Amino acid sequence: MALYSEKVMDHFRNPRNVGVIDNADGVGEVGNAKCGDIMKIYLKIDDDIVTDVKFETFGCGSAIASSSMATEMIKGKPVDQLLELTNKAVVEALDGLPAHKLHCSVLAEEAVKSALKDYYDRHGIEYDPKLLPDVSCDACHV
Ligand code: FES
Repeated sequence: MALYSEKVMDHFRNPRNVGVIDNADGVGEVGNAKCGDIMKIYLKIDDDIVTDVKFETFGCGSAIASSSMATEMIKGKPVDQLLELTNKAVVEALDGLPAHKLHCSVLAEEAVKSALKDYYDRHGIEYDPKLLPDVSCDACHV
């Protein structure tokens, strides 16, 4: 069996929603200190709906595929549903990842939640800090 599913290969080769949103309503940047990969997610939110989302990922193929899939999963969704995005759901949508690559999908979940936290913080919207802990990446800014 191939190490990577066709969906992983497809999202790696043709990533959706790559880029930057200049006037984003929320931006999240996270990294994994061990592998050094960095992921940044930009959200545009209108009337509590994610009307646009873009990402920049400096990392492995699984991180690129995970961020691409995560952006597809949240685009057009009500903003509060972003809290429900889990790395497990991203992995399932990709038809699986090898065990040693599961942390790449965790990065996608963290990046989306970090962008959501930034949106809530900027707009003075209250949230449960346990659901949105600060996972921002010190390594991203060196
Ligand atoms: Fe670290 Fe993929 S190897 S995010």
